[in-house]
Amino acid sequence: MSLAIAVAGKGGTGKTTVAALIIGYLKNKFNGSILAVDADPTANLEEAIGLEIKATIGATLAKFREELSNLPQGIPKNEYLESKLDEILVEGEKVDLLVMGCKEGSGCYCYPNQILRQYLDMLAKNYSFLIIDNEAGMEHLSRRMTRELDFLFLVSDPTVRGIRTAGALRDLAKELELNIKEIFLIIDKLHGELHPLVLEEIKKQRLELIKTIPEDAMIVDYSLSGKPLTGLPETSVATRAINELMKQIIAV
Ligand SMILES: Nc1ncnc2c1ncn2[C@@H]1O[C@H](COP(=O)(O)OP(=O)(O)OP(=O)(O)O)[C@@H](O)[C@H]1O
Ligand SMILES: [Mg+2]
Repeated sequence: MSLAIAVAGKGGTGKTTVAALIIGYLKNKFNGSILAVDADPTANLEEAIGLEIKATIGATLAKFREELSNLPQGIPKNEYLESKLDEILVEGEKVDLLVMGCKEGSGCYCYPNQILRQYLDMLAKNYSFLIIDNEAGMEHLSRRMTRELDFLFLVSDPTVRGIRTAGALRDLAKELELNIKEIFLIIDKLHGELHPLVLEEIKKQRLELIKTIPEDAMIVDYSLSGKPLTGLPETSVATRAINELMKQIIAV
């Protein structure tokens, strides 16, 4: 099986939490290996899944550009860069992690890097699952990978504004002509019922709500104490919601 999922949404809505819980589910239920890609410049997926990064792709590319005129003799440029990227892949138990780690304005976003794109495409082929925690804009998805995505989950808070942003992101995904099979809306941090105005906006934006995730005191507790969310027990209501969602989308 090979499954690629990306998570995107407005800042602070719960993208990293959702990505971490998805990774936790896959880790527990399947034997296959997982590649987690943190494409958020404020990278914090590592903490949420309990891994520690050595360096980021952004930093490695920047260094590579500096070294370009001074590379060791006889090694093709792409091979040299690929070996550097291999070095920064964090290998965990069943889950490996790569962190983009580019900050806005660093020039990393616009660096047209065919080598990186090919590298990520090739690397992803070695894994059963690919999970990408995205930043709000989706440039990373279009520029960094050519691989088809099975699912794009747009995460929103339970507000009309949040839903509008999710609608705009869906439009952006279409505009960028991203190769995505299914796009679904997830509402995180739900307290009680969804407000009728929010339901109306979901309809208006023609978004398909696949799951709501309740506010979960255990997530707050784990985040405060820096414990990985992948270790949450099934008594966590958010974990249960993600597990139900995953069962729904993976027909096994
Ligand atoms: N279901 C939930 N219950 C309680 N707290 C939650 C829930 N989901 C997320 N949070 C909390 O909300 C905050 C934001 O979540 P998270 O970091 O996952 O969002 P994000 O969209 O990745 O943010 P950013 O845009 O900064 O990357 C975190 O403190 C997280 O612990
Ligand atoms: Mg995040």
